[in-house]
Amino acid sequence: MAVPIILSIGKGTQDVFLHSDEFNPHKQGKHIFTEIPLGIKMEVDDVTFSTGGNATNVAVTFARQGLQAQYMWPLGTDPVSGIILNDLDKESVDTRYVVQKDQYSSGYSLILIATNGERTIMNHRGVSTNKTGTDLDFGAIESADWIYPTSLGNGGMELLNKVVHAAKKGNTRVMLNPAGPELADPEKLRTLLEDVDVLCLNKEEMQLLVHGETLEELVRHGLQFCPVIIVSDGPNGVVASDGKTIIRAGMYEDVPVVDRTGAGDAFASGFLSQWVLGKSLKDSIIFASANSTSVVTKVGAKAGILPKGVRLHDMPLLEKPL
Ligand SMILES: Nc1ncnc2c1ncn2[C@@H]1O[C@H](COP(=O)(O)OP(=O)(O)OP(=O)(O)O)[C@@H](O)[C@H]1O
Ligand SMILES: [Mg+2]
Repeated sequence: MAVPIILSIGKGTQDVFLHSDEFNPHKQGKHIFTEIPLGIKMEVDDVTFSTGGNATNVAVTFARQGLQAQYMWPLGTDPVSGIILNDLDKESVDTRYVVQKDQYSSGYSLILIATNGERTIMNHRGVSTNKTGTDLDFGAIESADWIYPTSLGNGGMELLNKVVHAAKKGNTRVMLNPAGPELADPEKLRTLLEDVDVLCLNKEEMQLLVHGETLEELVRHGLQFCPVIIVSDGPNGVVASDGKTIIRAGMYEDVPVVDRTGAGDAFASGFLSQWVLGKSLKDSIIFASANSTSVVTKVGAKAGILPKGVRLHDMPLLEKPL
């Protein structure tokens, strides 16, 4: 079998994490906050630079797992766009479909890590392509084996529709783990699902699409729309089905969480990186869980992504016929 091509589509960002003993949580009413007096110059203890953006994070999982990982999004000529491109090059992600133009810029997030592990994010979302996907190469979508579109910025549902329809035209399969703007219109998203091959969401997101209280109910209802459904619930585990069996999995390891940025990306991309190779639902879920567990032990969305050939151990998991 030729090495599958997975094309990831969506925004990139620069994430800058600041750690300080001064970011102390205080409680007042129902708000927990840290106080930063106006006009001071504060020393911080540590700074970590990392690139982010869902599509760039998942592309790195695919590349580290030895797949033909491609990334497509119009980038700017700003410093952050350059850093994102560099990072992807270093990871052997193919960026041939990226165009760089002055009118675009990548996102930038300043993330304050408080002493209790909570975080406050200040985010500039950058300037990205429009609803019609100007400067995206729709031919690239048709020639990939799989696409993974996410964080389409201003493009929202309209662009997602266009991307998924291009995939169908080219017989390209689609994995979806939609972000905010795509989830803002659940009705439209539901109609798109008939052209989606694998859908991965967390519990709250899935509840926007279908009824259900438990993960299992949500998965069963989701199967009416899409052949493979995965619903995660943070440390409470995950339920997944491919229409043949249904799996309930717990935590891969009870690790100290350093920074949960990228957990969802590592999980979903970890799953797809195995599924495209024809691995079983169970093996794909185990790798997804191991990948996301590793990511939450490091600062940033990419540092903990597992390399190829890492030894996995068993995890609490129950598989039964659907
Ligand atoms: N505290 C944790 N300890 C170990 N593993 C974790 C923890 N939190 C998350 N994970 C792993 O990450 C996976 C995805 O997490 P979660 O369900 O929170 O996704 P998400 O809400 O989509 O995340 P994101 O906010 O990154 O999009 C979980 O199924 C689990 O395998
Ligand atoms: Mg998520």
